[in-house]
Amino acid sequence: MKIVLAYSGGLDTSLCIKWLQEKYDADVITLTLELGQSKRDLKEIEGKALDLGAIKTYSIDARREFVDDYVNRAIKANAMYEGRYPVSTAIARPLISKYLVEIAEKENADAVAHGSTGKGNDQVRFDCSIRALNSRLRVITPVREWKFTRDSAIRYARENGIPIPVDVESPYSIDENLWGRSIESGILEDPMVEPREEIFEWTRSIENCSDEAEYIEIEFEEGIPKKMNGKKMDEVKLITKLNEVAGMHGIGRIDMIEDRIIGIKSREIYECPAASVILEAHRELERLTLTREENLFKEIVDKKWAELVYFGLWHDPLREDLDAFIDKSQEFVSGSVRLKLFKGNAIIVGRESESSLYDLGLATYDKRDVFKHEFGEGFTRLWGLPSEIAGRRRKRC
Ligand code: ARG
Repeated sequence: MKIVLAYSGGLDTSLCIKWLQEKYDADVITLTLELGQSKRDLKEIEGKALDLGAIKTYSIDARREFVDDYVNRAIKANAMYEGRYPVSTAIARPLISKYLVEIAEKENADAVAHGSTGKGNDQVRFDCSIRALNSRLRVITPVREWKFTRDSAIRYARENGIPIPVDVESPYSIDENLWGRSIESGILEDPMVEPREEIFEWTRSIENCSDEAEYIEIEFEEGIPKKMNGKKMDEVKLITKLNEVAGMHGIGRIDMIEDRIIGIKSREIYECPAASVILEAHRELERLTLTREENLFKEIVDKKWAELVYFGLWHDPLREDLDAFIDKSQEFVSGSVRLKLFKGNAIIVGRESESSLYDLGLATYDKRDVFKHEFGEGFTRLWGLPSEIAGRRRKRC
């Protein structure tokens, strides 16, 4: 039996290598994707996999593809689950699944495996994406099957020569990519307990932020950020740089109760500096360049899009249908947004676009006003006519 395992190098997926070898007498091939995680060495991770007996390792820098095919779509869709979470972990799962399937097919493997637990969202996203791409591949999920507790897992690791990471005492479960950092479990499971400062790595606490505001300008082309402060930047770089700049000002910390797919509520902490700024700016540019009808309708589409992604339904045809609408809607979403970054806030202070629908002559109250005020009377009469008629009926009956 040959199995391709999504491998992060952490304790759980390291245990998976051994467990798959023992339980299935399997040849294990590992796959590790570079998606913009901080403080990681892919070579070291590959070495560790080989030490644990993997017969082959793949590590792939997929940042460009992640941004082009996933993050950019999330930006155009203003994707936020339950109004707050930029779906940063969720959006990477279909891409990891895609590589798992591709490599399994190339290597003629019988199965793929991932380290998700039985009550999280990620198992749903992996399982559903993998099956949509190749329903003949078996999906094995060791963590869902084995009976380890944290302590017995550490004991098993010791007995099997699995290196135990120095931060294993850290009770948090962390997932990272360039769209955000997710932190859960441990003492965070008490929703009333304020997170300790030590859990944050990408953002400064408000107390430690500069007393000086910093202005930045983001320029979009058809809904996608292309320039920062007038400088054209590769998007992977732009997002990486913005994570730093906005993180220094403490922007992008999110602490929320979230409704998981399987029905459990959980307390989640995120650090998403770049995502927070870009989504804020993008939405504002849409307000400037889309019509009222487009803006109001797109909110509904955006909400549905984020839910499909969160719920692991990336491959439901509806997601592509919505993307067709969303792509078309971005035709005129080009221009710049200026923001002031200050102590945890990204405050919009300006916006401009060649395709702006803002008309000063219509908006102004000064002498440049070209609007015909007398039209107002006829308009309100007709606009309120149904209510007026209903009001008369109330008097009558
Ligand atoms: N609750 C978030 C989501 O479902 C984050 C999951 C984080 N995963 C992790 N392995 N820590 O998208």
